Amino acid sequence: MNHLEFVHVKKRYGPTSPWVVDDLNLTIERGELVTLLGPSGCGKTTVLRLIAGLELASEGRLLIGGHDVTHLGPVHRPVSMMFQSYALFPHLNVMDNVGYGLRVQGINKHDIAARALAALDLVGLKGYESRWTSELSGGQQQRVALARSLVIEPEVLLFDEPLSNLDARLRREMRQEIRNLQQRLGLTVVYVTHDQSEAMAVSDRICVMNKGQIAQQGAPRDLYDHPADAFVAGFMGEAMWVRAQGLPGGQGLQLGDWVWQDGRGHPPGELELAIRPEAWHLTDAPSGLPAQLRHCAFMGSQYELTLATALGHVLMMLPSHVQAPRIDAWVHLGLSAHGVVVLSRSS
Ligand SMILES: Nc1ncnc2c1ncn2[C@@H]1O[C@H](COP(=O)(O)OP(=O)(O)OP(=O)(O)O)[C@@H](O)[C@H]1O
Ligand SMILES: [Mg+2]
Repeated sequence: MNHLEFVHVKKRYGPTSPWVVDDLNLTIERGELVTLLGPSGCGKTTVLRLIAGLELASEGRLLIGGHDVTHLGPVHRPVSMMFQSYALFPHLNVMDNVGYGLRVQGINKHDIAARALAALDLVGLKGYESRWTSELSGGQQQRVALARSLVIEPEVLLFDEPLSNLDARLRREMRQEIRNLQQRLGLTVVYVTHDQSEAMAVSDRICVMNKGQIAQQGAPRDLYDHPADAFVAGFMGEAMWVRAQGLPGGQGLQLGDWVWQDGRGHPPGELELAIRPEAWHLTDAPSGLPAQLRHCAFMGSQYELTLATALGHVLMMLPSHVQAPRIDAWVHLGLSAHGVVVLSRSS
């Protein structure tokens, strides 16, 4: 069942300003976690604020649970939002910040305390109840804000870059917590991030946004494997762009002077390839693409190699248990079909 529905919604911040949200049509099912992913300024926060009722649509309609809420203010919507800037109350301690929403709902003190403590425990801040928010690090403040929005258990939860200030390990733990909680409670969540790996890890569906519109939406894997255009391919992970030509008779693809026999058979004509780093590997075959190693960075589980080739700079990964070539060494690169997206030149 549709829980949230945008119908031709447009938003601008002044009568002559440009459209920040431009004819948005989007439905989100009950219990679904949908992520808005896109570059800075594309309108992600504005979409969340429209759902929360903190901004009203300039045109179009917004429905929550089948009810038209287009003109309703924030207190009349079953929505809780965790802000990009946390917006903690400086005059309240951690416990009272987390319990604030429950107090507004008139819940009794005993239950507030129990639920606020459980929420603090969930975000790893047990023992911090009586601290002032000014005595917390950025990451701790972010976790208080997270606990404050989770504790209310609203029908619709909105997250605006909830993990941006956390270190890598905590980020992974918290995103798993958010996902577990969302699935356990069947919450409808709209999640905003710049980070494509975070988006892929938490989402049922990702909407890649560009200039106030949805460029493409789908399950994470679908978007990664089948991006509709260069913008989406570039936003869903690393991609190197190469012009190619389909050779007649399915003889492979011509990439500059190099012929790639990918065995898939392509129509003859102009094509464009988005090549992911995982598509490249080192090969002994002389038919591989000649490449010279320029940089090699040790990343722990793998090396990140940058190689100069006739097609431009290639980024590739090498497991760190494999001996990396020396800088300036010449090698040959093979390309596997997995990790190569073929788009026609017009898109
Ligand atoms: N209150 C406002 N008044 C005028 N313009 C605004 C206002 N809020 C946002 N904008 C403009 O609307 C556009 C979209 O802003 P929004 O905050 O929705 O982007 P975003 O995708 O969340 O970006 P970021 O990733 O940087 O947070 C931007 O061009 C921004 O300058
Ligand atoms: Mg924003």
